[in-house]
Amino acid sequence: MSKGPKRRKYPTDIIIDTVELMSSSDQTKEKLESNMKNEIIHLASQQDSKKDFIRQFHELLRLRRDVRRFKSRQVPENLIQEIISAIELAPSVGLSEPTRLIRIQTKEIKYDIITNFEMENSRALAGYTGSKAQKYADLKLSGLKEAPVQFAVYCDVETEQGFGLGARTIPETKAYSTACAVMLMWLSASARNLGMGWVSIFNVEEMNQLLQVDPAWKFMGCLCIGWPEEQHLDPELQRYGWQERRPGGAIVITK
Ligand SMILES: Cc1cc2nc3c(=O)[nH]c(=O)nc-3n(C[C@H](O)[C@H](O)[C@H](O)COP(=O)(O)O)c2cc1C
Repeated sequence: MSKGPKRRKYPTDIIIDTVELMSSSDQTKEKLESNMKNEIIHLASQQDSKKDFIRQFHELLRLRRDVRRFKSRQVPENLIQEIISAIELAPSVGLSEPTRLIRIQTKEIKYDIITNFEMENSRALAGYTGSKAQKYADLKLSGLKEAPVQFAVYCDVETEQGFGLGARTIPETKAYSTACAVMLMWLSASARNLGMGWVSIFNVEEMNQLLQVDPAWKFMGCLCIGWPEEQHLDPELQRYGWQERRPGGAIVITK
């Protein structure tokens, strides 16, 4: 029975053909060629899974949302720990790892945080007029009442870890580092179908007093984590007519 043409799957198969053409009866050569073929096939399949990984990673970026609407269902502790452990992989200026998390579990503290947010949110509302004020009033800007898992995020701007490398010229790089850590938590939560929301509408001094933190710690906001009520491709602020996304996200200038 004739074998028929070989099925080729990858662009690199052309190289395999070349190798085949060059094959001779010499045993060593044959072995070498066979190894090369296997190597090329392996590389090609690696490329395929890489493409798949990039596609999935992009999907994760597209689906990650700032979530404010949570189901009341509890989050298993191992998932919370996995999300926190993403911080270990975060970049930080001088490897200073300045992120500090306070897990908020006490009912009274939760209540005070909500009160703080509501006060500051009314102050923010007072800064708008007309239709913008009406729109602001209709927005849901925190999941503090519903989210089963909550953290206050701080950055130790005076940490000695990293010996100040990189932060001398731009001290804010410590806070940027914490923002990077939060971003990894965000993606890590999203990859597990959990939602996370970053809340920054607070009176910072009152927050520091409430949580009794080290004076060197800079308040970065609160994180609300839980099972999202819905999944969306568009940001909530866009959906509710507050602000459209800019195509491309950033303004890029070439000089
Ligand atoms: C530093 C920071 C602080 C934020 N603070 C708030 C906040 O207080 N309340 C809120 O509703 N969203 C807050 N957000 C979420 C943004 O509104 C949200 O990221 C933006 O609208 C884009 O939506 P998306 O994250 O779903 O893509 C914050 C985001 C960042 C990065």
